[in-house]
Order: sequence, then structure tokens, then C-alpha cells
Amino acid sequence: MKGYHIITFGCQMNAHDSEKIAGLLELNGYVESIEPKDSELIIINTCSIRKKAEDKFFSQLGRYKKLKTKKKDLKIVVTGCIAQQEGERIIKRAPYVDFVIGPQNIHLVGNLDTNQRILTSENIDISTLSIDAKRNIQTKALINIMYGCNNFCSYCVVPYTRGREKSRASNEIIEEIKGLTLNGYKEFTLLGQNVNSYKSDINFVELLKKIEDIEDVERIRFMTSHPKDLSDELIKAFKDFSKLCEHIHLPLQSGSNKILFLMNRKYTYEEYLKKIYKLREYVPDISITTDIITGFPSETEEDHLLTLKALQEIQFDGIFSFKYSLRPGTKSAFYEDNVDINTKNRRLNEINQLQDEITDKKNELLKNNKLEILIEGPSDKPNFKLMGRTRGNKIVYLNSHNNSTSYGNIVNVIIKHTHRHSLEAEYIEDSNSHTRL
Ligand code: SAH
Ligand code: SF4
Ligand code: F3S
Repeated sequence: MKGYHIITFGCQMNAHDSEKIAGLLELNGYVESIEPKDSELIIINTCSIRKKAEDKFFSQLGRYKKLKTKKKDLKIVVTGCIAQQEGERIIKRAPYVDFVIGPQNIHLVGNLDTNQRILTSENIDISTLSIDAKRNIQTKALINIMYGCNNFCSYCVVPYTRGREKSRASNEIIEEIKGLTLNGYKEFTLLGQNVNSYKSDINFVELLKKIEDIEDVERIRFMTSHPKDLSDELIKAFKDFSKLCEHIHLPLQSGSNKILFLMNRKYTYEEYLKKIYKLREYVPDISITTDIITGFPSETEEDHLLTLKALQEIQFDGIFSFKYSLRPGTKSAFYEDNVDINTKNRRLNEINQLQDEITDKKNELLKNNKLEILIEGPSDKPNFKLMGRTRGNKIVYLNSHNNSTSYGNIVNVIIKHTHRHSLEAEYIEDSNSHTRL
């Protein structure tokens, strides 16, 4: 039997693409190898969102070249966003790469033919991407609801690597979710770069309602909603749909209107803030996380202070913060990358320090609260047996109790200790009545 090994970089879309590639390969008789050296097929599923991610890939690639000199029948396949963007250039730079396959062509992975080594066509029928994924976690599942992005934020490669927005048929999504509930899956994360643009025979909120109505679905999440078109209808859904978890990832990027404009984000800070207020009006304890880019071209100290002020004002539950990275081919690549690296580093530190204090404080408020968690699996932290997640998407460690704390169960716990990135809890008996958040 032939072995395969997949290395995945990047976001949840890529993580899910890797699950699909694994599913396809197993259908074609491959088995997963833990070690790359034991496999006949190595897939590197790449990300090009920042230069650092790209550099990491090219440095790893060298490692597989050595392996290939030892093992002549080894095939190396590059998939993901770098594959789409660089295409043939990857093979020019690394001739030992056998195939380059873009994210819209992963369905071809099971049937490779050496006459065509670059598979990056954008003219695809998205139903070909509805591939049975091989999921490793048995409690929660990622589900594609749409592909691509039409937003063209000026710094971002995604519209170039994932193509234009295309929504998946609602009945296909529903069938996939129903099938997974039969296998014990409880939580579903709907994936799209901008879920508010979902449009098939129904819209996004109508899709949520259909999923809410599937009996064995316990929790629904989605990623991501673009602030410019986070609708009132969706905000209201957080309150009205009991299975929709009270967490939203709403990327702000900057607190300065000048920078938001240059980023082509199409909202002002004030408009963003209004949406936060509305979310909190409907669901006061909703957990809100965001993305911040620091050091965008022409960002002054004043712009940076506006971002710090925004963090202070909004009090996010958590942030992902990044130094601006110039991406060739994007609109902002025409702007001079004129914030020097020391300033970028300092600003990033200031952003992270402030947010760390806020995150600590927010988590401390959860101490002694009774929360509902879904038990996801074994703990990776000593002294604890289990790991679960709150509806607000916070990681919780606890010890096993009896059958009621089996993987996939939803139980109530009391939060005993809080840390920046996780909570520690004790199981409580009355788990019939679940407390939200
Ligand atoms: N579609 C998602 C974002 C995907 S990329 C959304 O719009 O919500 C994840 C994050 O990476 C972005 O929100 C942004 O903060 C960051 N990012 C994207 N391009 C970047 C770049 N060129 N430099 C630095 N950070 C970047
Ligand atoms: Fe990139 Fe903007 Fe699309 Fe998100 S919405 S993927 S940041 S272009
Ligand atoms: Fe994701 Fe990276 Fe592509 S963040 S969409 S894998 S560029």
C-alpha cells in the first residue's frame, strides 16, 4: 500500500482542504504515514498570506528534496495558495516538485497524470470540491459553504489565490451536515471568507435556520463575517438561534479611518463600533475576537494610537495581530512599505501588551461562572484529562468524571481558574440545563 503525508500551513480553509485531500487519497488506496520518510506521496498545503508563511514553505521544501534523492519513487505535490499564485515558478525553482495544484483543483489529487503538472484552473464547477473529508476530530467539523473572496482588501492575496466568491448549494451543505450528525458530530463551523455574501436559493441567515433545525446539531459557528456587511438579520440570529454559539470573529484591522480606507475595508471605525454595540445589545456577553494589522504603509504614530484606543474601547476577548507584509500582486504593493521593521515590532508589542491585559481581565470575569462546554478530546495539559470549549470559543481543561464527560458530550462546568489562553474548570452534575456562553 502507498503512504501519504500532508503538511498544512495557513487558515481553516486550508486545514479543511487537507482533510478533503486525505479523504480522496484514501479513496484511491493510499494510507496515512506519520513520517514523511515512510510515504510515497508528500503533499505540502501552503499559505501565502504573509511573507513569513511563504518563506517557511520554501525552507521546508529543501528538506523534501533530500528525501527524494534517497527515495526515487517519492512524489512531491504542492497545493494551497502558494501553488495557485506561483504555479510553474515553483517547479522552476524546485524541479523536484512533481505537481502544483491550486485550491480550486484539489479534486484532481486522486488522479495525477504527469503530462499535466500544473493544475491551477480557475474555471471550475464548485460541486467538484464537495469531496468527502477525512476528519480526525470526531466532535466538530469544518464545512465549506462558499469559496473565494470578492472584497480585494488592498493588502490581501486571498482573492487572487481562491478566486471569485461562489456559494455551495444549500441542500448539499445540509446533506453533509446531516450525514455527519449520524456519525456523532455535534458542532459545525461554516467556512467562507465572507459568509454574509452567501447566496444560493437562500441567504446566509436562512441557511443558519435550516442547520438550526437539524435535530442532532448542537452547535453552529461560522468564519468569517466582513464588518462592512454584517447584517442586522445576522446579529439578531445570535439571539434567536439557540444553537448558534455566542462568538464572532470580526476583523477590524485598524482603528484609523485613513488606514481602513487605504486598506479598502469599506467601513469606518465608527461604523464598526456601531455593529459591536448592536451585537452586545442583543447578546450582552457575546465573545468578540478580531484581527489587527500593524505597520500598514503610511501608518503614523497617530494612526497606531487610534488602534490602541479601539482595543481599549471595544475590549475584545482576543485578537490575532500581524505586522503588515507586502504581497506582490496586491494593490498595496504599489504603496511604499514605509514603516520600518523596528517601528512595526514596537507597535505590535504595544498592541499585544494592551490586549493581553484586556484578555486576562475578560477571562478573570468568568471565574466561578457556570458555563456550557463541549468536550472535544484529551487534554494536552498535564493534571487534566479532558479539553473542551465554551460557546464563546474559549478552551477549558477539566478532569473526567464518569460517562457524562465522554468526548462529544455537552456538560456544565464551574470555572475555577483562568489564564490568558485557557480556563480550568470542574464538572457539575446538573448538566441537563445548559447555561449559554
Ligand atoms: N477572510 C478573512 C481574513 C483572512 S486572512 C477576513 O477577511 O476576515 C486573516 C488575516 O490575516 C486578515 O484578517 C489580516 O489581519 C491578516 N492579513 C492578511 N493579509 C495580510 C498581509 N499582507 N500582511 C499582514 N497581515 C495580513
Ligand atoms: Fe482578504 Fe479582505 Fe477577502 Fe478577508 S475579506 S480574504 S482580508 S480580501
Ligand atoms: Fe488561508 Fe493562507 Fe490561503 S490564510 S486562504 S491558506 S493565503
